[in-house]
Amino acid sequence: MSERSERRPRVLLAVCGGIAAYKACEVLRGLQKAGCDVRVTMTADAERFVGTVSFEALSGAPVATSLYEYPGSAIPHIDLAEWADAVAVVPATANVMAKMACGIADDCLTTTLLACACPVLVAPGMNVHMWQNPATQANVATLRGRGVSFVGPDSGRLACGDVGEGKLSGVEEIVAATLALLGPRDLVGLRVLVNAGPTHEAIDPVRYIANRSTGKMGYAIAEAAARRGAEVTLVSGPTSLAAPAGVRRVDVESAAQMHDATLAEFEAADVAICSAAVADYTPAAPADHKLKKSRERLDAIELTETADILADLCAVKGPRVVVGFAAETDDLLTHAREKLERKGADLIVANDVSHPESTFGADTNRVALVSAGGVEQLDTMPLPDVANAILSAISGRVFLNGENGTGSDGRKGLG
Ligand code: CTP
Repeated sequence: MSERSERRPRVLLAVCGGIAAYKACEVLRGLQKAGCDVRVTMTADAERFVGTVSFEALSGAPVATSLYEYPGSAIPHIDLAEWADAVAVVPATANVMAKMACGIADDCLTTTLLACACPVLVAPGMNVHMWQNPATQANVATLRGRGVSFVGPDSGRLACGDVGEGKLSGVEEIVAATLALLGPRDLVGLRVLVNAGPTHEAIDPVRYIANRSTGKMGYAIAEAAARRGAEVTLVSGPTSLAAPAGVRRVDVESAAQMHDATLAEFEAADVAICSAAVADYTPAAPADHKLKKSRERLDAIELTETADILADLCAVKGPRVVVGFAAETDDLLTHAREKLERKGADLIVANDVSHPESTFGADTNRVALVSAGGVEQLDTMPLPDVANAILSAISGRVFLNGENGTGSDGRKGLG
């Protein structure tokens, strides 16, 4: 385990124009007490209820109210969306919920919400008739259907004098619901290195040998590890994927570059997960100019074997955990066990790439976790769930290697 200082969970508080806006200050405080970093965006109407100065003083950061002026950022809605691990909309007005449901982005707050890919909590606060209006209820149903979480509203005496549903939930309830969105933070303090994607092996400056890997599995692992609090470095071959939020990406092209970058980054890592589809062979003498078929015939390409990154990591790993993958089309478990032993890995994640649900580019995977202790076959699951299952298996092992002897959650480690 490293001594790295922990990256605290980040919550973006989106404050809308309702009388309960002042309660967002207490929510901010509650989230800070729970260990979160909080930043605030607010609508122009929210500013009529509570000034930005209050939120600035409490959060220790500028409040985003304009798409065009935000200290330190040229594009605040994108920077804030990427910064946040979760968003809490407090209080959520009927108007802002309607805009969210329609994808309207006409100010800093709603544009930022549209740019957010992280979990979102909505805490409505409004008049009972506005809440019960079929338009509002239809918007709530739409948002729920898209995975937005809700807390409240409660029933009681409302600011307008009416009695009924529409009261903003209690501060503690909103804080708890926000924390629930952040998920487990069991990998805080762990430095995780992931390599992912294919490699490109140059034949000449315009042609290369590659494979069908998209990098999706490795990127899902990197993203899940960062969400669980790990400090993540992703050594990536050429892919079309964006770096997950909070992940440091090192771009490489060839197997040789991936080898050097992965070995170098491993010096400051506690765990390495080798999901990359590294070329086993590379052209022995790539041409330094485009080969012209009229002048130079290319009847054969002489290949040399590349270095095995996983095996080289295992040779220097000591008590650190190294995980490999085995993408096979036949005799899955036999090959996986053989790779576990030959390379000296702690765990091999085996998947059958001849099945549509576990092949290259799929959004699901069906893997078996193969370790010296045995085989655990997992169901077909979406990639983020597979990533979390792999990380949970690793975290058990990592903590087993650490001082406590058992996992942070008391689970037994692999093997
Ligand atoms: N691997 C690696 N370096 C290589 C080749 C593979 O680090 N030069 C890693 C992969 O990232 C994966 C594991 O080794 O974690 C198994 O890769 P795979 O291609 O399935 O196995 P190979 O070692 O290439 O063996 P084979 O071609 O016989 O399947």
